[in-house]
Amino acid sequence: MREAVQDAVNRVDQRRLWQRLMEMARIGAIPGNGVNRAAFSPEDIVARKLLLSWARARRFTVAMDAIGNLFIRRAGTDPHAAPVMTGSHMDSQPRGGRFDGVYGVLAGLEALEAIEQAGVRTRHPLELVAWSNEEGGRFPPCTMGSAVYTGAKSMGDFLEVKDNEGIALKDALARTLAATPEAERRELNGPAAAYIEAHIEQGPLLEREGKTIGVVTGIQGLCWFNVEIFGETAHAGTTPLGLRKDALREALAAIHALHALTRDASDTVRFTIGRLLIAPNSPNSVPSHVLFSVDVRHPDPETIARLSEAIEPTVRQAVARCSVKVTPTLHDDPCAFDPAVVECVEQAAQSLDLGHRRMPSGASHDAMYMARVCPTGMIFVPCEKGISHNEAENARPEDLAAGARVLTAALLELANR
Ligand code: HGY
Ligand code: MN
Ligand code: MN
Repeated sequence: MREAVQDAVNRVDQRRLWQRLMEMARIGAIPGNGVNRAAFSPEDIVARKLLLSWARARRFTVAMDAIGNLFIRRAGTDPHAAPVMTGSHMDSQPRGGRFDGVYGVLAGLEALEAIEQAGVRTRHPLELVAWSNEEGGRFPPCTMGSAVYTGAKSMGDFLEVKDNEGIALKDALARTLAATPEAERRELNGPAAAYIEAHIEQGPLLEREGKTIGVVTGIQGLCWFNVEIFGETAHAGTTPLGLRKDALREALAAIHALHALTRDASDTVRFTIGRLLIAPNSPNSVPSHVLFSVDVRHPDPETIARLSEAIEPTVRQAVARCSVKVTPTLHDDPCAFDPAVVECVEQAAQSLDLGHRRMPSGASHDAMYMARVCPTGMIFVPCEKGISHNEAENARPEDLAAGARVLTAALLELANR
């Protein structure tokens, strides 16, 4: 490894990274060491302003686009060169962990700071992104900021999406943009020379094999739907069952049929119903409206297509008296990362003498969209028992710092090509 690169890698500061992760974890902290930091929430705004304060203290330039993606840039020697980018997200699940997403943002900041401290010049600018609304928990679907940045979706697709309290995304987004005047506005769809995202694995493989680095080869496909069942509310005491249009009873029949549809002896299909909303949600009124979410994932595009096409017919077949509305909200085919970037990550892990293995990602990430616009790769580090989207999510400081070192070396390699 070249001396200058080694110097930058050696300046990755494990203590500084861990302290920043713990400071971020206090924003939206919930019992059990978890965080609840929904996209465009007051907690998300506090996290954004803290990140920007660290970046500005290092004199990096800070910008934000129309959907609230934050960009932190370290200039390169060639101002016309497209940036080599890294990043992840700071929004969390409602019962999220202290590392999902925010680790990739702070590992990226750590890499930029170490490179700055080492005084290593790069031809390409280096740019760290904190993507808006990667989780999609409050405002579905997920990976919204990167979808709009890359042009896969438009702002208009999402502005009217409402959260469980009926707040429209456009209003929460407007408050978020207004709260960060320190970030100058910039255009959507900027150019990118390459993108590498560091993330906890959110699975058990690395820990089980005693490996420190996952050299990620790609991301499995996924599709999301909202299914709505419309019945009639009625008195629980006086209405015979034979006369009811019970939206919940028929939603349960539909859910049972979807479980049968997605049953897979090899346990490769990932089928989840994570949201179920009932109205009027009163013990003595027959439910008149049910909305439930559908999340289906698989590494094979044909399987995703087959299951995706079967969702609506399966629901309609299971529902007898109520009416049905099935709304697809996301369909991403599996993506394979750029071989040259995968190789670059693997080389960096090798040169740092870190145990590593190639592996796919079961979870989706913003890298899914970046892979469509530039050479992209990911770096995984282990998390305890593979637990994630759970307060108990945990990771070791030394593994987190090792991932940041691999990221630093890989970014420098790509930024001077
Ligand atoms: O759902 C996902 O895979 C990601 O954690 N948002
Ligand atoms: Mn994540
Ligand atoms: Mn997540």
